Amino acid sequence: MKEKLILIFGGRSAEYEVSLLSVYNVSAALDRQKYDVIRIGMTKEGVWFYYTGDDAKIRSGEWANDADNCLPVSLIPQRGIKVDATGEIFDKSIPVFPVVHGSYCEDGRLQGLLDMCGFDYVGPGTAASAVCMDKYITKLIISHRKIPMADFVLVHRGNSEDDIIPKVEEKLSYPVFVKPANAGSSVGASKVKSREELIAAVNEARRFDDKVLVEEYIKGREIEVAVMGNDEPFASRPGEICPNSEFYDYNTKYISDTATYFIPADLPEEISEKIRGYALKIYRALCCKGLSRVDFFVRGDEVFFNEINTLPGFTSISMYPSLMQDHGFTYSGVVEELFRYAKEGR
Ligand SMILES: Nc1ncnc2c1ncn2[C@@H]1O[C@H](COP(=O)(O)OP(=O)(O)O)[C@@H](O)[C@H]1O
Ligand SMILES: [Mg+2]
Repeated sequence: MKEKLILIFGGRSAEYEVSLLSVYNVSAALDRQKYDVIRIGMTKEGVWFYYTGDDAKIRSGEWANDADNCLPVSLIPQRGIKVDATGEIFDKSIPVFPVVHGSYCEDGRLQGLLDMCGFDYVGPGTAASAVCMDKYITKLIISHRKIPMADFVLVHRGNSEDDIIPKVEEKLSYPVFVKPANAGSSVGASKVKSREELIAAVNEARRFDDKVLVEEYIKGREIEVAVMGNDEPFASRPGEICPNSEFYDYNTKYISDTATYFIPADLPEEISEKIRGYALKIYRALCCKGLSRVDFFVRGDEVFFNEINTLPGFTSISMYPSLMQDHGFTYSGVVEELFRYAKEGR
């Protein structure tokens, strides 16, 4: 008998398209001789379907208009997912990989729903997912762990322009970096060189979240570590991204193709080991499970924690699987290992 696995993709997130690419690769990696792969798609509006069509239409985005292959489903607490038309139930004993990114998907809301249905799933639970999505709360927790980070100021929804300028200038000097506390893929993020640009940058970040972080600008190298596991997690050697643009913005991540990747990163052994140690400490402090990608800046021999992603990009060229491949895993092996941790971990 083939083992059943569920992949969830799409979702009400600015990173919907990234999820489609990620799941296309994950699905292709699962051996159909061994696995019966059930694909559950969430449209951009957040409607769930059991998708029975070609994976190519997931990649192109056409899946959501493929009405014959989109069967409405219902979530049933403590039982699983029911296909409305046939009454078939995908039982809660089937492990789930939510191959999704960003709001509603990576931030604990989807994890809570899966918990209510009784599923085991890849990645951290509800609380850890919510905390890691929020860069402000993440920083508060990590600030107690003696791990260096960019200095920051939190701008609340209630802060007016007149509050923001003195609040920022009292603690930081230009340039500063402005970003929404809850977002991803660099949306709403910008480098600010002077007071004149500050308010426009905060307003842009506010399009994505009520809470905005204004940070000390770190002119450093972008270094990422893949962590995998539950009680005894493993941290990969660090990799490096050279955006070859002003910063690693949305355009560089997904459109322009100017970024170059180095795996492993060319770092002195002691810095590399320090970063791996920090990554594990951060993973544990935030109560992560399954996987996360932990991102840093390195400036000279200084290391700064930047952010953590609990469901990082998973295309065949994404950093997370590539960092694990550097340790001898195949891409398929990484996916299978994550399902194993999902089943083991709760
Ligand atoms: N404090 C900072 N100093 C310099 N650049 C930054 C800073 N914070 C973020 N960046 C740049 O913006 C990019 C996106 O910010 P990040 O915090 O990683 O958010 P996201 O979740 O959108 O990836 C980073 O990869 C980096 O290039
Ligand atoms: Mg990032």
